[in-house]
Amino acid sequence: MDVIEVIVTKRDQGALSTEQIDWVIGAYTRGEVADEQMSSLAMAILLNGMDRREIADWTQAMIRTGERMDWSMLDRPTADKHSTGGVGDKITLPLAPLVAACGAYVPQLSGRGLGHTGGTLDKLESIPGWRASLSNEEMLSVLRSAGAVVCAAGSGLAPADKKLYALRDVTGTVESIPLIASSIMSKKIAEGTGSLVLDVKVGSGAFMKDVAHARELATTMVALGTDAGVRTVALLTAMDRPLGLAVGNALEVAESVEVLAGGGPSDVVELTVRLAREMLDAAGVSGRDPAEALKDGSAMDAWRRMISAQGGDPDGVLPRAAETMTISCPASGVLTRLDAYGVGLAAWRLGAGRARKEDPVSFGAGVMLHAKPGDLVREGQPLMTLHADETARFDRALAALEGAYEVGPASDPALLPLVIERVTA
Ligand code: URA
Repeated sequence: MDVIEVIVTKRDQGALSTEQIDWVIGAYTRGEVADEQMSSLAMAILLNGMDRREIADWTQAMIRTGERMDWSMLDRPTADKHSTGGVGDKITLPLAPLVAACGAYVPQLSGRGLGHTGGTLDKLESIPGWRASLSNEEMLSVLRSAGAVVCAAGSGLAPADKKLYALRDVTGTVESIPLIASSIMSKKIAEGTGSLVLDVKVGSGAFMKDVAHARELATTMVALGTDAGVRTVALLTAMDRPLGLAVGNALEVAESVEVLAGGGPSDVVELTVRLAREMLDAAGVSGRDPAEALKDGSAMDAWRRMISAQGGDPDGVLPRAAETMTISCPASGVLTRLDAYGVGLAAWRLGAGRARKEDPVSFGAGVMLHAKPGDLVREGQPLMTLHADETARFDRALAALEGAYEVGPASDPALLPLVIERVTA
């Protein structure tokens, strides 16, 4: 096969054959196709797209470059959730043990944050002793003892995607729906889950800024999962404002524990319960009500088992940032807007996120909100508190928040509904 012919086919708006896709993905992973050639192909795909058959072939070819996990030895169905990422999106933390408490196994391979969105592993690593890297045997043992495991994907899972994603990141080719969908789904299918619920975020704090693009991504991913034999559904959910009140690693762990204790912000509780119901439905597990399992302590028990099984201390003291700064409400009225991207960017600049993959994060850094859009507020009352390890970080965080919130007379702010739409095969 000739790589230039593959590039030219896509450049000229042709469809790549199954053989061309299989070959180019394999050869790139083995180092036989150069980065500049693959980046040219990725740009041609970004500009000219791929049809459903090509995307499915691309996804399967990436899966074939690594191992595919198998949980068929377990005595109950498996279910997983993937979020396309947002600000304050800590849902996996209460959701995984909740679904385990209701009778499905949750084998979740997660990622770290990059840019203004947080990563589940960074959040969990703020718990003293908790370990993200597990062998396959350890994963199985945590699953058996706790019902849920959340850990880092090993290097053997879809290695083509690891290499290609790093290349897309530096060549302006991340924002292609076929490439995003195949990247996410190759890892989720290789993870071996029997069913999957996708939480596709929409709004300023998300990858997909509008409902039409989010719907296209969701539809593409649901088709990929379904074609691969994974029962897959997607919800489009709001990311025009942050989820919950806490944004930042340890701050979000504390909020998740509140939810597991039967409290917590209403939007986090509502989305956690809705996603749990979808996961249990997709897995064919019935008989337990997730809302009940949050109230009766069984989800909390599963959380404690899951954290302990990965070396963490569920009663350990979470890290706190050394410095805080409170922002007050500029006027009295209704908080009509609190922009997810602005808050996410502020948390990132406070130290909660990283600029490069190898950077460390500050576990205690982030933003605590004291009001959400729609709330009545008074001039001078605390609107949010910034947390950072050094006061020098506050100025750039304040700059990120300029224009990110508004107080007005309207009592009905124009917000996206928390759950916008459900997408099925
Ligand atoms: N997350 C992924 O895993 N891949 C993408 O391409 C985008 C987001």
